Amino acid sequence: MFFHPRMKLLDKIGREFSGYNILESGKRLVDRKPLQCSLYVTDRCNLDCAYCTEYDNSRPHPSLDDLKKWIRKIRELGTMRIALVGGEPLVHPNIVEIVRYCRELGFATSLTTNGFLLTRKLLAELEDAGLQVMQISVDRMTPSPITKKSFKTILPKLDYFRDSKISLHITGVICADTLPESRAVLETGLSRGIPTEVRLVHADPLRRFRVDRGPREELERFIDSMIERKRRGEKIHTSEAILNYQRSLLRGEHVEWTCMAGYKLFFVSAQGKFWLCSMVHTDKHIMDVTLDDLYANYRKKSCQEGCGVYCAVSASLLVEKPIAVLGKEIVARTKRIPSMFRRSLTPDADKATHSAITNPDGTQEMNGGTNGGPSADDRVTLRKSV
Ligand SMILES: C[S@@+](CC[C@H](N)C(=O)[O-])C[C@H]1O[C@@H](n2cnc3c(N)ncnc32)[C@H](O)[C@@H]1O
Ligand code: SF4
Ligand code: SF4
Repeated sequence: MFFHPRMKLLDKIGREFSGYNILESGKRLVDRKPLQCSLYVTDRCNLDCAYCTEYDNSRPHPSLDDLKKWIRKIRELGTMRIALVGGEPLVHPNIVEIVRYCRELGFATSLTTNGFLLTRKLLAELEDAGLQVMQISVDRMTPSPITKKSFKTILPKLDYFRDSKISLHITGVICADTLPESRAVLETGLSRGIPTEVRLVHADPLRRFRVDRGPREELERFIDSMIERKRRGEKIHTSEAILNYQRSLLRGEHVEWTCMAGYKLFFVSAQGKFWLCSMVHTDKHIMDVTLDDLYANYRKKSCQEGCGVYCAVSASLLVEKPIAVLGKEIVARTKRIPSMFRRSLTPDADKATHSAITNPDGTQEMNGGTNGGPSADDRVTLRKSV
């Protein structure tokens, strides 16, 4: 009884920092092997978000055998983390088996979903298969003709994560349609202790925006407020570097960086094709890719100006300036410790805070913070080193 609150506090502080996984990720900052791959497990989707160019219901699911072959190859290249994306990954009938296979091969594994097909049973199966990180995409509080991904559907499901080992985070897209509700999305996630991020809509591969982006000044004020909150230590689920990057995008300012897409991170399509990122595709099959092919993509790209592939910008900045990016993240997380102490001094404080902001269904605080797919500050361990 006496030690319980302190043990809980130590556990919470540990969770904030244990996942830096510095040694493992550090290897990829100095060698020539890739850090992460986003694998499209299917092109098919159960929704039709107006801003999205990443789904195609005319294509069949790739088979489990093909996916396993590609996953083995991705691992053989030395990739440490795999992000299962789509389309909607949960519509693939073998998604649990795919996760299990990634974990058996030693990948740090995340999955990005719209959450509509998530059930308590499926979450338990994914956890049992070893999934470490889940991103649920939530754009609004209520559905709209632009996007149906709203807390109306997701709030009742947050309770599934109460005792789950899977780290949940929430990500939303900001555009004119969602902006009036983006603050509420952020508050709803953060107030439940869930690392949450809302980010600017990006253009399609032809650099066209499919939806109205929203008024620039208001967007800038919103990004500024997130930078402030990030500095105060709130669980904004992105780095200050990426928030600054988005502000520069809005202002039309040039940002100096070198895109590592196709080298430190790459994508594999649902047909097994090697893509530099979600926007830049090649016809080469992943089975034919060599480490030299990857290294050839270590160069500035002509599409860098205005690039909205934030996971690529994020990984590139991390590889280019690890001390600056990780240093700021560590400082931000350190600022969370005093409030953890305050709560630990009042044994019922956690309960009290959360009962005030608890979901109608009783959802309480989620497990700690991660960043983007499995990333440098995730609480993930790799079973086999490559
Ligand atoms: C393509 S979806 C695939 C996974 C899943 N169907 C989902 O929606 O989470 C992956 C992520 O990309 C985001 N996304 C799609 N199109 C976007 C765009 N034009 N701008 C910014 N984010 C976008 C989605 O909101 C989602 O968070
Ligand atoms: S749910 Fe995901 S894949 Fe489907 S349309 Fe929306 S953003 Fe695209
Ligand atoms: S700059 Fe952006 S769009 Fe171009 S390859 Fe890199 S990540 Fe892809």
